[in-house]
Amino acid sequence: MRILITGAGGQLAYDLQRVLEGHGGHSGRDDSGGSHETIPLVRADLDVCDSAAVWRALETHRPDVVINTAAFLRVDDCECQPEAAFRVNALAVRALAAACRHVDAALVHVSTDYVFGGQPEREPLGESATPAPTCVYGVSKLAGEHLIRCTWSKHYIVRPCGLYGIAGSSGKGGNFVQTMVRKARAGEPIAVVDDQTCTPTYTLDLAQKIAWLITTGACYGLYHITNAGWCTWYEFARTIFALAGIRARLTPTTSTAFNAPARRPAYSVLRPDALRALGADDLRPWPDALRAYLVETAVIPE
Ligand SMILES: NC(=O)c1ccc[n+]([C@@H]2O[C@H](COP(=O)([O-])OP(=O)(O)OC[C@H]3O[C@@H](n4cnc5c(N)ncnc54)[C@H](OP(=O)(O)O)[C@@H]3O)[C@@H](O)[C@H]2O)c1
Repeated sequence: MRILITGAGGQLAYDLQRVLEGHGGHSGRDDSGGSHETIPLVRADLDVCDSAAVWRALETHRPDVVINTAAFLRVDDCECQPEAAFRVNALAVRALAAACRHVDAALVHVSTDYVFGGQPEREPLGESATPAPTCVYGVSKLAGEHLIRCTWSKHYIVRPCGLYGIAGSSGKGGNFVQTMVRKARAGEPIAVVDDQTCTPTYTLDLAQKIAWLITTGACYGLYHITNAGWCTWYEFARTIFALAGIRARLTPTTSTAFNAPARRPAYSVLRPDALRALGADDLRPWPDALRAYLVETAVIPE
């Protein structure tokens, strides 16, 4: 398959390329990477907000599948720049879906667990759960989902959660694991929220499941894809330091004390009902994926 990837400078895009081209690792029965032709386009190659350029790129490359990883994901900046958030996370997605329809390419769009957070339930959320975003970023990503649904039927909307990967998130100035390790090694005191529960997810595992999903052909729709299990961000940090053998000055804090401009989801654990209905394996538990990441980035020996 010819697979065009937007936002190709990002951490998920990096692992998608490794997996789809056949040089990523494998972590389960459903993995299905390898031997695809990828067309990775970084922002300088293709700004997804330039709808004429998007149209031209798809007419030129004629991909079978487009994977959109581009996003405005600095969550706090989205609060004071809602127009920019909607331009990248919603309007550009609509234009991309229309261009995919024009060349008959399937669209894989990466959404987020931040479409949740305002719901009262503290139970894992399946794809049928009603979204309830709590911040501009989440609303803009949810708008992007809806605009795809009313534009082009051949789509996979994938909601992951808490991503970290070896390329690091450019949008967030590095990923959470890198930041924790760097701060702890510098001896800095580290306060991490203990009242937001989610599922940290390794981009390599997500990339492998996306690769598998697109080879299923016609099972279009909405998919929750994260590593298995859940924890608070404080518990995640504690596990990073335990696995890495780093003594850290770590304390739990609250969202109220942290006082970030954007309200994050207190609970956004996603249940992969749609993948299970296809007979797919769950992704491995998040601590196993974290250990693999720490080995791969040489924080700990194999
Ligand atoms: N990171 C998380 O924790 C997380 C959690 C759930 C869902 N997601 C979703 O997962 C996807 C991938 O995230 P990631 O962690 O891989 O993020 P990332 O590393 O920050 O990658 C995002 C990429 O999008 C690019 N981009 C931004 N605006 C663009 C534009 N107008 N045109 C083209 N490219 C543009 C960025 O380029 P620049 O570097 O030049 O800005 C960056 O390379 C996103 O859709 C995000 O919403 C992320």
